[in-house]
Amino acid sequence: MRLAPSMLAADLADLKGALALCEAGGADLVHFDVMDGHFVPNLSFGIPVLAALHRNTRLPLDVHLMVEEPDRLLGEYLSAGAARVAVHWEAVAHLDRLLARIREGGALAGVAVNPSTPVELLVDVLPRLDYVLLMSVNPGFGGQTFLSGALDKARRLKALIERLGVRVEIAMDGGIERDNIRQVVTAGVDVCVVGSAIFKAPDPVATMSELRTRARSETV
Ligand code: DX5
Ligand code: ZN
Repeated sequence: MRLAPSMLAADLADLKGALALCEAGGADLVHFDVMDGHFVPNLSFGIPVLAALHRNTRLPLDVHLMVEEPDRLLGEYLSAGAARVAVHWEAVAHLDRLLARIREGGALAGVAVNPSTPVELLVDVLPRLDYVLLMSVNPGFGGQTFLSGALDKARRLKALIERLGVRVEIAMDGGIERDNIRQVVTAGVDVCVVGSAIFKAPDPVATMSELRTRARSETV
């Protein structure tokens, strides 16, 4: 399991401090949520903030574009330091073309799917992407309750990936915390995006370590 703390839940007045917590906690990636007020109702961060994070950490930046027309500013996100970019299946008409552009820009290409979007729709595009980001909440806000239907989707996606014999990583995003992370990982998820459960905890660094332990252990 790899852990990707979500900056959305961090102290937004101290993003440098949030990066330091990620590094101290051994985070594998830093998850960066981009919202445009259209694809999702909320707004969050954009390109200058991503560039500022990039200047202040060596951790790979995991960009989740919750925007309409993600192709419009894709080049800017890539130049600003995105190591991975996920676009939403629901927002893109020409997914193949966009995924190719992400890879040409030197980043890993991901497709995010909303809770109501079946993973079976990805069957023809799986050979051309690096990871699928399964939403376990309806995107747009941090701190929501985990939707347990995401576990079955992860199992179905894993079976599909194995049947096709492709190398695709499964990531999950939304409502992951200490009491469900073991189930998430057991369902086949490789990358856990965790916002509130880390940054709203009294000790985010200790919480990252606890999440790892719980992800591994059958008994805790
Ligand atoms: C939700 C975002 C998530 C969010 C997860 O739309 O995509 O990345 O930050 O936060 P928690 O873990 O609080 O659900
Ligand atoms: Zn996200």
